[in-house]
Amino acid sequence: MKSAIYPGTFDPITNGHIDIVNRALKIFDHLTIVVAQHYAKDFLFSAEERKELCEIALKDTPNVEVHIWQGLLAEYVKENKADAIVRGMRALSDFEYEFQMGMMNRKLAMDIEIIYFFPDEKYIFLSSSAVKEIALLDGDISEFVPDEIGERLKERLAKSHTREQLQ
Ligand code: COA
Repeated sequence: MKSAIYPGTFDPITNGHIDIVNRALKIFDHLTIVVAQHYAKDFLFSAEERKELCEIALKDTPNVEVHIWQGLLAEYVKENKADAIVRGMRALSDFEYEFQMGMMNRKLAMDIEIIYFFPDEKYIFLSSSAVKEIALLDGDISEFVPDEIGERLKERLAKSHTREQLQ
């Protein structure tokens, strides 16, 4: 039984992330999505909400679970057994960041391999921020997130300060 973890901030999960999950499940028997911390990011959704949105988006996908982790990824890996870390590689521009992060994680004593998947080309330019901005400006996000995630995103943006600041 091969298992992997897929870390990210998922604010919110998008169809691009789901595409990576489905590719990883062709190789791994079990995947744990790790909703992680990023010191430089302001989140629209709390960690609990990001976890819930991942669970909603993947409710029909077997062999996936979602955890929240507030510490270093290397510490998560030490405490939780997995055969590999899964990451998406959208474009060449992702490479340098991924390379640095992968090397730093190795330095932090992570004895685990990192496997990169290319998403479907229609998700190459997708990011959670892009989806949030399109939704904020009342654009169509139906191609980029599952319907329930789109609804939750619009509800949250309707209440957020970001919208007031734009007006
Ligand atoms: N489809 C669509 N969007 C994708 C995507 C895909 N396949 N893959 C990545 N993205 C988007 C993400 O939504 C994110 O968008 P955003 O910046 O607008 O929010 C962006 O691309 C970057 O994604 P990613 O590279 O996965 O970064 P992240 O911020 O989501 O996750 C962590 C980075 C959480 C994995 C990393 O910060 C981490 O490991 N944190 C734990 C603390 C730690 O150990 N730090 C030391 C690291 S060396």
